[in-house]
Amino acid sequence: MKDLYYSDYIELNKILNSQHPKSFSSVEDGNDEMLFIIIHQVYELWFKQIIFELDLVRHIFIKGGINDNSDDMSKVVQKLKRIGKVLELINQQVSVLETMTALDFLEFRNVLLPASGFQSKQFRLIEAKLGLKMEQRYKREYYKHTRRGSLSESDLQEVNQAESESTLKELVIKWLERMPFFEEEYWKDYKQAAELDSGERHKFWVDYRNAYQDSLSENESGRLSEFDKVFFEEGRGDVPPAAMRAALFITIYRNLPIFQMPFELLNTLSEIDELLSNWRYRHFMMVRRMIGLRVGTGGTSGAGYLEGTLSQHYAFREITELATFLIQRSKRPALPIVLKEKVSFNL
Ligand code: HEM
Repeated sequence: MKDLYYSDYIELNKILNSQHPKSFSSVEDGNDEMLFIIIHQVYELWFKQIIFELDLVRHIFIKGGINDNSDDMSKVVQKLKRIGKVLELINQQVSVLETMTALDFLEFRNVLLPASGFQSKQFRLIEAKLGLKMEQRYKREYYKHTRRGSLSESDLQEVNQAESESTLKELVIKWLERMPFFEEEYWKDYKQAAELDSGERHKFWVDYRNAYQDSLSENESGRLSEFDKVFFEEGRGDVPPAAMRAALFITIYRNLPIFQMPFELLNTLSEIDELLSNWRYRHFMMVRRMIGLRVGTGGTSGAGYLEGTLSQHYAFREITELATFLIQRSKRPALPIVLKEKVSFNL
């Protein structure tokens, strides 16, 4: 059998024969369109890798029975951290394109009309698979049609399909809601510090709420009713109260062995959101330098639209903003011994 050859294995000829600038045909007349094409292709390859990792992680959650101590959890965290590294890399790549000036771009901008990064199906799939919904998007109307400059009918269908499948956010919420640590068996010897009637609420949360109240300054008193709303009444965004409570509990007691991986998971989700918004910011700043206030080739308002997405397009905002409800380590309620033993791998 013939030995496998490097370029055959990675199908290099296909890749290296896929750059066809439209504004010049020979190197002597060449301009920055070559860089423009290559950088978009590199981005799309990395988007493909991100989608691959996201699907793998979603699959681990979907198959069910994810155990916080098992390989599954460390695999999920490892893959998500990898996505973070790729996002760091593609953030840095913006500066390669920024070696092109606005005048350099004008030399070929017209040839790409009405094509635009807005039509990047893979970018939309990443957003959708993470958990960003159509109704949470800035300028939703741009997404609804498939006219010139927008997504094609079949690409839009694929994005809608990805939104209708279990997103990473929904899967993480379900996992959080299943957290078993508030079962009565672990709390029999818990000594409630506050002399308050716990009513419907678990006695731990009565104490925590009290400590949180003590931590608030005078002009923050409104936060207490927000605490009740977020953790006991409505939840926050699309995250229900039980999942918010579990996420807060993990965050407060992250030092306990069983919570270290789950905390890494939550932290990495926030990191991914942050890195994606860093990319949005860098792309927006670059676009402003390249085209100023002109409309985009995809027909949006251009830099104005991109600035709007920056403040609105987050999948894990609720997790990141948990910091609003933290208290000092020394003020945390002491957990009952039975529960401590359970979460310390002493089973
Ligand atoms: C000269 C460089 C670039 C310019 C002037 C530019 C311009 C724009 C503009 C104006 C938009 C808004 C949609 C529109 O009306 O067209 C947009 C969206 C977008 N561009 Fe770029 N872009 C550049 C480079 C890139 C690169 C290298 C990528 C990498 C894939 C990229 C990916 C995207 C994506 C994914 C969107 C959609 C963003 C969103 O809707 O949140 N762009 N671009």
